[in-house]
Amino acid sequence: MSYKLAVIGGDGIGPEVSREAIRVLESVGLDFTTTNFDLGAQRYVRDGVVLDDSDLHNLKAFDAIILGAIGPAIGSTEVPPGILERGLLLKLRFELDLFINMRPFTAPMNSIAAGSDFVVIRENTEGTYAGEGGFLRKNSPNEVATQGSVNTRFGVERCVRFAFELATRRSNHLTLVHKTNVLTFAGDLWQRTFDDVKSEYPSVRTDYNHVDAACIYMVTQPQNYDVIVTDNLFGDILTDLAGAVTGGIGLAASANLNAAKTGPSVFEPVHGAAHDIAGQNKANPLAAIRSVAMLLDHLGEVKMSERVLNSVIEVSELLAADAGRVLTTADITDLVIERIN
Ligand code: IPM
Ligand code: MN
Repeated sequence: MSYKLAVIGGDGIGPEVSREAIRVLESVGLDFTTTNFDLGAQRYVRDGVVLDDSDLHNLKAFDAIILGAIGPAIGSTEVPPGILERGLLLKLRFELDLFINMRPFTAPMNSIAAGSDFVVIRENTEGTYAGEGGFLRKNSPNEVATQGSVNTRFGVERCVRFAFELATRRSNHLTLVHKTNVLTFAGDLWQRTFDDVKSEYPSVRTDYNHVDAACIYMVTQPQNYDVIVTDNLFGDILTDLAGAVTGGIGLAASANLNAAKTGPSVFEPVHGAAHDIAGQNKANPLAAIRSVAMLLDHLGEVKMSERVLNSVIEVSELLAADAGRVLTTADITDLVIERIN
């Protein structure tokens, strides 16, 4: 079976790291074709297109989508904030119903969280990201802005259920992260849904952390985490912290999953476009490569996925052990490919 993969290289280092990830897919023996989609800041500045209906329609025909990174250079004024985030990245998440954002972290030995290995499951289509809100009397001295958080029983439950399922395939330990002491409506819905689903998974040991406390534990005792489930915004913030303590954002992979498999999922590193190092063969491709390991797993190519993942973890340990060594983007990919067996 030959898979059809769409590639949105995007901006900055995005095209470079996705090219390397594709090189790994070739070396592991996946049968696939790629089709490039020219989307991102560059495209927007050139002809004003963010993501139109025909792009979206075409993307839906693929088995999976590889995304590099999207975003203008810092300080550039050509793309106002929100245009690409809402118009492209979040639009993909909403329109393709990518309701799970899965971010795994394996801390190499020299990192703050050394010895930890955990996964954050972030709800990916609701919360404050849903776009509820607006202005009153905009640009007047009396202006008002509201930004609500949308939490549906349906959306929370499918996310929590996914996390419980994942926990049963790992160490049977799941932590809910929220702020139930202050967000007494949304938090209550999350907590009750979590408790209801928990009754179906008696083998899974559960914990609850307020999000502020989770920020402490993630630094002081990250080994206690296995699977974490949380809402969209908390998950966004917590996974940047998780990246920072587990070897840096250069290792942080992510999968935006349509876990119901009614359409393609999107695989992208957590990091951004990093225009400052673009085109210099300096970017770390490991996050993009681990993201395609998740792609393989999602497509059911579990053995291939494990082979790539094991190799990525070996190479991240290698880099940690020899931090002084200067390697190019392509060198790092070569190390991964050499170790795939
Ligand atoms: C991420 C990013 C996005 C998010 C932005 C760019 C819309 O920070 O994938 O974590 O907030 O989800
Ligand atoms: Mn983020």
